[in-house]
Amino acid sequence: MGFTYKSPGRDKLFVVKHQGRLHAWLNDCPHWPGSPMAWRRDAYLNRDATRIVCSGHGAEFEIHTGRCTHGPCLGDSLQPVKLDIDAEWRIHAVIPAEASKLEDKG
Ligand code: FES
Repeated sequence: MGFTYKSPGRDKLFVVKHQGRLHAWLNDCPHWPGSPMAWRRDAYLNRDATRIVCSGHGAEFEIHTGRCTHGPCLGDSLQPVKLDIDAEWRIHAVIPAEASKLEDKG
């Protein structure tokens, strides 16, 4: 599922629940920095939901590591987003500093 941050209309990050754990990544393909991953809202996974897939050129990424295992950015990785859970079980995303700077310029 994707989430916006400061820029409505485009997901800044997305979260995947996989094998009982949450994994969060910036919506930014390492093959073409600045390119979003999904071809439509919340479409981040392949058909059998075993890999994250970029709609740009079909790169595939492991859900739990974000490492590209197939495609033009083989060996590169998605940028992780740290998730914190507060005392009331609300989940907060900690956006990496570099990503925040880029967002503030736009
Ligand atoms: S932009 Fe993601 S694979 Fe090319």
